[in-house]
Amino acid sequence: MAVINENYLKLPGSYLFAEIAKRVATFKDDNPKANIIRLGIGDVTKPLPEAVIKGLHAAVDEMADARTFRGYGPEQGYAFLIEKIIKTDYETLGVTLAVDEVFVSDGSKSDVGNIQEIFGVNNKVAITDPVYPVYLDTNVMAGRSGQLSSGKFAGVTYLTCNAGNNFIPALPEEKVDIIYLCYPNNPTGTTLSKAELKKWVDYAKANGSIILYDAAYEAYIQEPGVPHSIYEIEGAKDVAIEFRTFSKNAGFTGTRCAFTVVPKSVMAFTADGSQYPLNSLWNRRQTTKFNGVPYIIQKGAEAVYTPEGQQQIKELISYYMANAKTIRDGLKSIGLDVFGGVNAPYIWLKTPQGYDSWSFFDKLLTDAHIVGTPGAGFGPAGEGYFRLTAFGSQESTKEAIERIKVKLSL
Ligand code: MLT
Repeated sequence: MAVINENYLKLPGSYLFAEIAKRVATFKDDNPKANIIRLGIGDVTKPLPEAVIKGLHAAVDEMADARTFRGYGPEQGYAFLIEKIIKTDYETLGVTLAVDEVFVSDGSKSDVGNIQEIFGVNNKVAITDPVYPVYLDTNVMAGRSGQLSSGKFAGVTYLTCNAGNNFIPALPEEKVDIIYLCYPNNPTGTTLSKAELKKWVDYAKANGSIILYDAAYEAYIQEPGVPHSIYEIEGAKDVAIEFRTFSKNAGFTGTRCAFTVVPKSVMAFTADGSQYPLNSLWNRRQTTKFNGVPYIIQKGAEAVYTPEGQQQIKELISYYMANAKTIRDGLKSIGLDVFGGVNAPYIWLKTPQGYDSWSFFDKLLTDAHIVGTPGAGFGPAGEGYFRLTAFGSQESTKEAIERIKVKLSL
């Protein structure tokens, strides 16, 4: 008799963004004429940069010719892409990496979800609260969470981030083994300074912990001094794994390409207390379960690193960050408390008096036909907050803010 993984039953019924999509679909069915503006899920709307399209086309042609056709590629990704990632994204920050420390994948969601497999089930996990739900849900599925009680899993350490602490998580009182950090942060759009981030690296070094650092939004950093990579912090190469993606900087949400950096110096412990490199475990995991990102897609990603590609992604980011400003300024002008949106494409707002996260979601959808994401969906500390993304078109973002101004009558 096959038995299910009971840990799945501990999870709420559906994944946050699936739940929102369901509610919006129901609203659309009931109100077919409503012109809905979607500023909910962090999905890009601009087409792929021209340089990427050129790279993709050329690769398609190569696949049509027996002399240049490719079958299985290296599970870890092609060296042509990895070398450019290292040179452009890391060496410019003073970080050196070897080619076999970077693993190309089909997305950061997969990687941040899968990475927990290489850790023992008894590790104590810490997440910021609010948090990108994948970190928590995948650890619940794996049996690392304990039971849900009053909105929190008993076995997980929640690091509260709210306006009261400027969205800067405090080091945990109890000892934790695996720490998920995402900066620029999803959902709050806030960042950590190098000094703040160093506290976490020092904590991990002192406690034998590992930091899983999601830097999916690093390309959105506008202010100087904000760290783009955790490896800018001394000692981080001994304790941190970093996740990056082409989804948000180059519009690859539907094209799928990302990479994860696992320096060979990052060690965790075996049951007998000796150190073991996580790089070789991740390599073992990927070569067993993954056959690599399509050649065509990796050629598209490689084109991001051409001079034209670099210029074009800068333009994309400026476009979305202009939306972030529109949202921030518009919401502030009607007296709302607004966070994020300066170094990140997410704007995190305090819901107006009288609304919790989900009632504000309903209000915006019903009265203004705007979809956002209820803060409570990201964790208990997200209650009373709401997230809007800057990934819409400039026209629809402006229209959304005008509607909010008119309909909200604060
Ligand atoms: C979000 O809206 O938080 C994003 O879509 C996250 C993701 O990229 O999966």
